[in-house]
Amino acid sequence: MRDEQDPFKDAVDVPLINLQTIDWPDVEHYGFDHHKSIAFISRHISMTLGCKKRDQDILWIAAILHDIGRKKPFGMSDAGHDIISADMAHKFLKADPSYHGDTELIENVCKMIANHSDVKDENLTNDPKFLALLDADVFEVARISPKTTTGLRAIKDTYKTDKMRTDFGRDRAAFRGWMKHRGW
Ligand SMILES: [Fe+2]
Repeated sequence: MRDEQDPFKDAVDVPLINLQTIDWPDVEHYGFDHHKSIAFISRHISMTLGCKKRDQDILWIAAILHDIGRKKPFGMSDAGHDIISADMAHKFLKADPSYHGDTELIENVCKMIANHSDVKDENLTNDPKFLALLDADVFEVARISPKTTTGLRAIKDTYKTDKMRTDFGRDRAAFRGWMKHRGW
């Protein structure tokens, strides 16, 4: 039964992805756990923004694959990892019988991944599902040092900048819910 206290837990009817064939990054904080968490929270944010099921599905797949090309651990800049991750996601989806014929889905997924750390296509800033992905990644900053205030301080600083793209991202109650969900 769904835990009403944890809005991030509910992920029924999401696109199936063959996770076993994915080569998760072998660097700190960018393995499966991070990708799964970003998928959960960004999908939740997209629902609060009124995104349709198709967009939620595109976002879910983008989130699951968004950092697969990461080579450097958390805290170190990894320039170009968004483009590398998008290329890897493109190859992965083209080889997957469930998605290889869905050109629109693949293009959308890869565009979001290619822009997630450095927004090169400004048109994306009008796309709620893309903004949900960006804000989800900010929420994950708290993994810097769980159960301490370091990550929380970093997120508080982000609240003060234009890096928070949605109102959901500014919702402190939602953020506390996320911390609880993650056990931080
Ligand atoms: Fe990234």
